[in-house]
Amino acid sequence: MSNQLEKIKELIAQREKARLGGGEKAIAKQHERGKYTARERINMLLDEGSFEEMDMFVEHRCTNFGQDKKKILGDGVVTGSGTIDGRLVYVFAQDFTVFGGSLSETMAQKICKVMDKAMMMGAPCIGINDSGGARIQEGVNALAGYSEIFQRNILASGVIPQISGIFGPCAGGAVYSPALTDFTLMTEGTSYMFLTGPKVVKTVTGEDVTQEDLGGASVHSTKSGVTHFTAKTEEEGLATIRQLLSYIPQNNLEEAPLKECNDPIDRLDDNLNEIVPDNPNRAYNMYEVINTIVDDHEFFEIQPNYAKNIIIGFARFNGQSVGVVANQPKFMAGVLDCNASRKGARFVRFCDAFNIPIITLVDVPGFLPGTGQEYNAVILHGAKLLYAYGEATVPKITVTLRKSYGGSHIVMSCKQLRGDLNYAWPTAEIAVMGGSGAAEVLYAKELKEAADPAALMAEKVNEYNKLFANPYNAARYGYIDDVIEPRNTRFRIIRALQQLQTKKLTNPAKKHGNIPL
Ligand code: HXC
Repeated sequence: MSNQLEKIKELIAQREKARLGGGEKAIAKQHERGKYTARERINMLLDEGSFEEMDMFVEHRCTNFGQDKKKILGDGVVTGSGTIDGRLVYVFAQDFTVFGGSLSETMAQKICKVMDKAMMMGAPCIGINDSGGARIQEGVNALAGYSEIFQRNILASGVIPQISGIFGPCAGGAVYSPALTDFTLMTEGTSYMFLTGPKVVKTVTGEDVTQEDLGGASVHSTKSGVTHFTAKTEEEGLATIRQLLSYIPQNNLEEAPLKECNDPIDRLDDNLNEIVPDNPNRAYNMYEVINTIVDDHEFFEIQPNYAKNIIIGFARFNGQSVGVVANQPKFMAGVLDCNASRKGARFVRFCDAFNIPIITLVDVPGFLPGTGQEYNAVILHGAKLLYAYGEATVPKITVTLRKSYGGSHIVMSCKQLRGDLNYAWPTAEIAVMGGSGAAEVLYAKELKEAADPAALMAEKVNEYNKLFANPYNAARYGYIDDVIEPRNTRFRIIRALQQLQTKKLTNPAKKHGNIPL
C-alpha cells in the first residue's frame, strides 16, 4: 500500500473512532436511557445526507485530575452545518457519551465556531442540549466557555433564529443559553432544566422535590413558561423543530418562505357568522375561529399549555407566514394577566424581529383584577405587551370579534398602537368597560335608592350597550377601519396582507429601548 493510501486509511479509522464518541458501551447506556446519541439526533433533524461535520478531531486541553490521559476525538459536542427543507442551518449537539456532555473550554470553542458561522451566513442556529453542565475538571475555563456562548446568544438575538432542544439534563447556569434563544423544546420524561438541582434545594430550603417536579417538561410547559414546546419522543421533537423553521425566515433581513397555497383565498366560512353566542357571558372556542380562517386549517401553536387565556402560534394566509395572537374566551374568559401578557409580548417581539406580520384576534374583557396580579407586577407585564405591539413595525392586522374593553383594548394592537388595518365583526363591543360595570359606577346612587334595583340596572345596561356595545362607535372615529362579515374574515385578512406587502415604517434611532421587565 502506498504511503498516501496508508494515510487515507488512517483518516478513515480516525473518523470511525470520532464517530463512536464515548464508545460503544456509553452509546448502549445512552440508548438504554431511551435517548439517541448526538449524531443520531443531528441525522434525524437535518435533510438526509446534508450534515457537514466540523472539528471532529478537536480534543480538550485539560491536564487536571488525569484528564490528559482521557481524550476523546471531537470532545463532548458534535457540530456542523446542514439543511432543513433545503435551507442552511448550523447545529451543535452535546454528546452525553463523552464526559456526560459536560462543557469544556474546547467544546465551548466548537459551539462558538458554529454560532459565528451561523451569524456570518445569516442562518438559524439549533442547539441540542444533553449535558452535565460545566466540566468540573476544567474549572473556570468551563465557566468562561459558557460565558462566550451566552455572549453570542445575546448578539445573535433578533439577527438569526436560535432554537434549543433540551433532550437530557440542562442544569445550573447552563440553562441560560436556551433561555436566551428564541424557542425551547423539551422532551417529556427525559429532560430537565433548573438552576439548582434537587440536592441543593433540599440543603438550602429543606424542600423535597424530584428532578421532574422541579424542572421537567411538564413544569416548564405549564407553570413557568420556560419551554415553548414539549415532545413525547425525540423524533417528534426534532420534527417539531423542522416544522417551526418552515414558518420563519433565515435571518432578520429576509422574509419567511412562501408556501404554495391551494386553499381558496375567498373561501367563505359561514360557521363564523353564528359562532359568537347571544349571551355575552357565554364562551366560544377561539381555536375554531383560527383553524377556520388559516390556510388548510393548519395552526402551529406555541406554548399551548401555558397561559391558555392567550393563544399564540404561526399559520399561513395565502401561503404567507404570519404570527397569530388571540384571546381565548374559553379560558378565564380570555382575560389578560401577568403570564398571558409575557407570553404574548415575547411572541410579538419575535415576529417583529423576523419580519413576520401579526394577526391579532381580540375578545378580551380586561385585565384580571386583584392582589395576586398586582403583587406579581401585572402593571409591568401588561406594559410589556403594550410596548411590544407599539414598537412592532411589521404589518399588524387586528380583528375584534367581541369584547374589547379598557386597557386591554389598547394593548391588543389597537389603531393608535399603529395597527395597520383594524377590523371588527358586527358583534364587537369596543368600550371603556362592560355594560354592568359601567352602570354600577354611573348609577350607583340611583341603584341604591331604586324601588326595583334589578329593573333599573337592566334598563341602564341596555341603554349603555345600545350606545357603546357595538363596533360603530369606534368605526365612526376611524379607530376601526371597517366592520366586516365574520364569514369573510379570511379573505379580508389576505387582502390586507397583500396591501401591506410594501409597508415601510421605522422607529426613531436609538441604542435600544427600555422595555419594562
Ligand atoms: C465532568 C461529568 C459532569 C461534569 C457528568 N459527568 N457531569 N464530568 N463534569 N459536570 C460525567 C460523569 O462523571 C460520568 O462519567 C458521565 O459524565 C455520565 O454521568 P453519570 O453521572 O454516570 O450519568 P447520570 O447518572 O445519568 O447523571 C447525569 C447527571 C450527573 C445528573 C448530569 O452526572 C450529574 O449530576 N452531574 C453533575 C452535574 C453538575 O453539578 N454539574 C455542574 C453544574 S454547575 P463516567 O466517566 O463515569 O462515564 C454548572 C455551572 C455552569 O454547570 C455555569 C454556567 C454559567
